Amino acid sequence: MDLGIAGRRAIVIGGSQGLGYAVCERLAAEGAELLLFARDAARLTDACARLQRAHGVRADACAGDITRAEDIDRLAVQAAEKGGAQILVLNTPRPPSPMRDFLQENDDARWEQGYQQQLHGALLVLRKLTPLVAAGGCGRVVAITSASVKQPMPRHAISTIYRAGVQAALKHLAMEVAAQGVTVNAVAPATVITPTFSTFHNLEQRIQAVPLKRAGKPEELAATVAFLVSEYAGFITGETIQLDGGQTLALC
Ligand SMILES: NC(=O)c1ccc[n+]([C@@H]2O[C@H](COP(=O)([O-])OP(=O)(O)OC[C@H]3O[C@@H](n4cnc5c(N)ncnc54)[C@H](OP(=O)(O)O)[C@@H]3O)[C@@H](O)[C@H]2O)c1
Repeated sequence: MDLGIAGRRAIVIGGSQGLGYAVCERLAAEGAELLLFARDAARLTDACARLQRAHGVRADACAGDITRAEDIDRLAVQAAEKGGAQILVLNTPRPPSPMRDFLQENDDARWEQGYQQQLHGALLVLRKLTPLVAAGGCGRVVAITSASVKQPMPRHAISTIYRAGVQAALKHLAMEVAAQGVTVNAVAPATVITPTFSTFHNLEQRIQAVPLKRAGKPEELAATVAFLVSEYAGFITGETIQLDGGQTLALC
């Protein structure tokens, strides 16, 4: 199925590894051009080279930190210089580790780190880059959040609390840019195996708790994102798609 995104330009935040890189792979396979943003310049350059080699598409890097407004401004300038972008994928850093319950979170530094990475950084990206994506008339914004935005999970307090703010921002944004033909959606994963996720100590226990009795694959998340940015998803906006093997028990 041709998703109709060949030649479109996509900005992928946190695109150098894990879920973000899997999204880059899938969008590149569909013929999209990529601009990857993350902190580690060497890993970014390597990721871009792999994407170009495998898919023959243009892939550029912008090294920066999602929590720094000046870095997001620089990313916006770089994207504009390359002709703009029609697709924005917002992937955020992992919350402070180890994950804890609300009343165990007594360290203000962890709250500040979670705020900066999960909420402040996400809002910077959405505020500063959506106008660029909207300028083309058929923009697509997709955020990778967490299944906890629909059903809070034990030990995920910082993540859940700040991502709820992101969820609210996505709803506002979806309403505000709909008239410009821009859709804004989220994919909410749980138990999708990435190199970082597989280091968790209770991995096997987590997988057994999944109704489908297996972990998710980054390619499955990437395919969902690719659908949401495709021509076929033009009437879906303000939506959150769970990608969790049936773990979320919320009714909607
Ligand atoms: N896998 C799951 O089942 C699952 C479930 C719920 C939620 N999530 C969420 O999905 C997201 C991605 O997970 P993952 O396992 O793919 O993470 P990951 O492997 O740690 O990758 C994170 C990406 O973000 C970049 N990044 C980290 N800190 C950054 C910063 N301050 N500024 C800019 N870029 C930054 C990383 O590159 P640099 O380090 O070079 O910056 C990397 O490209 C996380 O927010 C995670 O909590 C995943």
